[in-house]
Amino acid sequence: MTRTLTVALALSLTACGTVPTTPSGADSDLRNYDQTIYEQTSLADEALFDRLGGYEVIERFVNDGVDNVLADERINHLFEGVDEENLRFQLTEQICDLSGGPCIYSGLSMEESHFGLDITEAEFNALVEDFQLAMRDNDIPYGLENQVIALLAPMKPAIIRR
Ligand code: HEM
Repeated sequence: MTRTLTVALALSLTACGTVPTTPSGADSDLRNYDQTIYEQTSLADEALFDRLGGYEVIERFVNDGVDNVLADERINHLFEGVDEENLRFQLTEQICDLSGGPCIYSGLSMEESHFGLDITEAEFNALVEDFQLAMRDNDIPYGLENQVIALLAPMKPAIIRR
């Protein structure tokens, strides 16, 4: 119910385009009021790439995500002998591309690059957690973090063990 009201409030505020005021009359900032709803209702129609802060921000959280993965004993054995620089670059390019940035992913398909690795759902979830942590460490707002994860989630069937 609160959520419905919040969305309705968010939508009506865009419609009239004014900054809302609190009952006390002081200015309130809708983004601070509920950033997640603000972003998920796409009141900002900028590409996710730009809302994340562009290529360098993506590169930074991907590098931290890969560092977390390589330190994560649940999954790091799968990355032995992998070309780490290529992995960091391809992941950055892929997220840049998917989020509407000026990149075209040039790497292997998810089927090709994960074939034979026998990745389980638990291992997939561990990698997602490592990337969520990296986004939080880089102060990516929660609503945007969820949108990045939503871009990656549909790849799961191509990546996990079939
Ligand atoms: C949505 C989640 C994932 C995405 C977006 C993703 C993306 C990628 C990309 C872009 C590459 C590089 C492809 C290339 O070399 O051209 C790659 C390689 C790789 N990924 Fe993933 N991946 C995901 C999940 C996972 C998981 C869950 C694991 C293991 C726990 C994993 C293990 C690997 C390994 C070991 C390689 C290197 C393969 C090789 O070079 O032989 N990935 N992944």
